[in-house]
Amino acid sequence: MFSDRVRVVIDRVDRLRDQVDDHWQIPRDEAMVLAQLVRIGRCISICEIGTSYGFSTLHLAAAASEHGGHVHSIDADPKKVRAAGESLREAGLAETVTLHEGDARTVLTSLKPQAHFDFVFIDATKAQSDEYLDAVWSKLAPGCVLVTDNTTTHAEELAPFVVRLRSLPDFASCGVPVGNGFELTVRRR
Ligand SMILES: C[S@@+](CC[C@H](N)C(=O)[O-])C[C@H]1O[C@@H](n2cnc3c(N)ncnc32)[C@H](O)[C@@H]1O
Repeated sequence: MFSDRVRVVIDRVDRLRDQVDDHWQIPRDEAMVLAQLVRIGRCISICEIGTSYGFSTLHLAAAASEHGGHVHSIDADPKKVRAAGESLREAGLAETVTLHEGDARTVLTSLKPQAHFDFVFIDATKAQSDEYLDAVWSKLAPGCVLVTDNTTTHAEELAPFVVRLRSLPDFASCGVPVGNGFELTVRRR
């Protein structure tokens, strides 16, 4: 699935589940599916809202690096941004990822990606999901894929946002019961 160099780092970050209580990282099977989606779509301009220690970032970046893609990943916690940066460097993926430290709602408004985003992974404060979508909206490419995490684990909290995603004109959206459960939303071209 990934090179030995990348896998060693992914395995180390995976073990944080037993070592820190604020990793909040997606399950491994879900991370693998996200990497496959990036590969299938040959996504080149990826945005991740919620880096944490970089577990999902490593998967998105490893897949994107295979076809020259780039990941912008945002987290408000400086300690996590620092740790994610070290892991990405160790995996040889530092050039594939730009890490942004700050509130995603602010960062997204000033972020200028080289190309409109064709893949967006929303995995931060659930109550702010609408604000993230509003902030990234003008930077979405035709055909873009939006993945919203935790639709099974936080079903009640995310229910109104899922209703919004399923009501967006020119988008198609469905739930995927893998890992934390995620909503897979695709913009029609
Ligand atoms: C669920 S964790 C992300 C897990 C990561 N995607 C993974 O699977 O490895 C959520 C992260 O979002 C960050 N966060 C929460 N609200 C945020 C905001 N408004 N702006 C930026 N980061 C935020 C938290 O610091 C936390 O690290």
